[in-house]
Amino acid sequence: MRFASVPLAICKSRMRIVETSRCVASLRVFREPVAQAAGFFPTFATIMTESIHKPLIHYVEQEILPRYDHFDAAHRRNHAEEVIERSLALAGHYDVNINMVYAIAAYHDTGLSEGRDLHHLASGRIIRNDKKLRQWFSEGQIETMAQAAEDHRASSGHEPRSIYGKIVAEADRLILPEKVIRRTIQYTRDHFPDYDKEQQYQRFRAHLLEKYSDSGYLKLWLPESDNAPRLEELRKTIRDEKALRAAFEESFSKNLDLS
Ligand SMILES: [Fe+2]
Ligand SMILES: [Fe+2]
Repeated sequence: MRFASVPLAICKSRMRIVETSRCVASLRVFREPVAQAAGFFPTFATIMTESIHKPLIHYVEQEILPRYDHFDAAHRRNHAEEVIERSLALAGHYDVNINMVYAIAAYHDTGLSEGRDLHHLASGRIIRNDKKLRQWFSEGQIETMAQAAEDHRASSGHEPRSIYGKIVAEADRLILPEKVIRRTIQYTRDHFPDYDKEQQYQRFRAHLLEKYSDSGYLKLWLPESDNAPRLEELRKTIRDEKALRAAFEESFSKNLDLS
């Protein structure tokens, strides 16, 4: 078993350039004309071929990603591809096995075939039971991968057991301040229909403080995640009561327009 590697590659994730001994590449990166024009990449295919085991990519694309086609709209194939992309970008910051990172991201939601509630555990089981993976990974690596898939839902609970779990858990979520605000308002409206507007605001504020504030329970597992600056942006609003009230008012009125 031998995985080729790129000794020095300059990889670009969205607009951020990362120099790394491992190549961080993604379909989106390949499509970026700026990156190609700047000569950062020979071709996406070359980088992928050299950094991730080719038969593994082939197997994932033929057998694993198509499973997502049957899941709900938020968990279709493009979700798995985005988690792969973000996982590979994060992996560039750590001394990790890029093939494991790739496979974990590809498998992480396959357990949805057994329902949503325990899908993370089912994904772990699917990895453990996949005989094909034993062609490329040791038993120890497979166990680490299975545990990482199990830990991918650790968005606010226990800490993932390994760096692999932290990478996939962080890659699996997108903290977008506007969306958090909109969803919190929607949730409040749906679950507390008797609340007047001020009561809704107080519940909205309490939830954001409890989860997203400086002392909130939400934890970022990796500081290099794109979620870090976005969470800071949200925290700035939460710290400033006036700004928080304004954000509520703006999103609240937009939501009213929609209903
Ligand atoms: Fe999931
Ligand atoms: Fe996911």
